[in-house]
Amino acid sequence: RKPVTINSLQSLYRKKEPITMITAHDFPSAHVADHAGMDIILVGDSLAMVALGMEDTSEVLLEEMLLHCRSVARATKGAFTVGDLPMGTYEIAPEQALESAIRVIKEGRVKSVKLEGGKEMAPTISKITTAGIPVLAHIGLTPQRQNALGGFRVQGKNTASALKLLDDALAVQEAGAYAVVVEAVPAEVAELVTKQLSIPTIGIGAGNGCSGQVLVQVDMLGHFPPGRFLPKFVKKYGDVWGESLRAIEAYRTEVKSRAYPAPEHTYPMAMSKEEFSQF
Ligand code: KIV
Ligand code: NA
Repeated sequence: RKPVTINSLQSLYRKKEPITMITAHDFPSAHVADHAGMDIILVGDSLAMVALGMEDTSEVLLEEMLLHCRSVARATKGAFTVGDLPMGTYEIAPEQALESAIRVIKEGRVKSVKLEGGKEMAPTISKITTAGIPVLAHIGLTPQRQNALGGFRVQGKNTASALKLLDDALAVQEAGAYAVVVEAVPAEVAELVTKQLSIPTIGIGAGNGCSGQVLVQVDMLGHFPPGRFLPKFVKKYGDVWGESLRAIEAYRTEVKSRAYPAPEHTYPMAMSKEEFSQF
């Protein structure tokens, strides 16, 4: 397929065709997402939890993001790629943000960057886009600010909060963002914001009225042990944990019983029995 670009995303948006986006954190997870025909692959800082076992996204370093972005970029031939700017690498000043964004592009080899925040980040978004780096904005529930938000809470529920969301959306659009992720917002509010904008909204926990959808790959694949908490918006499309567990347990059992390796997994030698018996 033809590689997805800023222009083809624009054309999907104009045709009102939903934009499909999923996270990936390494070569295999990007490889399969790219083969499945996703429009956008995001190297989210959720890799802190899903790939690195950290408590939350605030722990992940730019260097770590760069390593994961590079592995995703190598596997991605068709999808448009985005790398998250980790917490602490863009908030101090627009210059700091541009420096970090340049590293994500040059060293991470992805095609655009994502950062969290609304109106207050407008000068930063403007700085980065002016340098020729496309920016995906992220408003609503912004996980890097979970401590200030009082946890993972739905945003835009009441009038003041919904108005702030709209204000943020318009500001990041004005600043030059090519699209905006809207996370954990009531469907009606996200739809209203979508209608007010002239750039695509990519929803996660934001209902069916957005211009596209994004999910964290390990969540939608069911790549975790049973009983783990999942946000309401996650639909489990697979059972990768169950399948991996089944396969690894079968392997373990067959090694213990010497059922594996069988003759078909074994190399023949090029000596006669007589030659071999000389040893
Ligand atoms: O880090 C991430 O995976 C994200 C998506 C959930 C949008 O930011
Ligand atoms: Na993120």
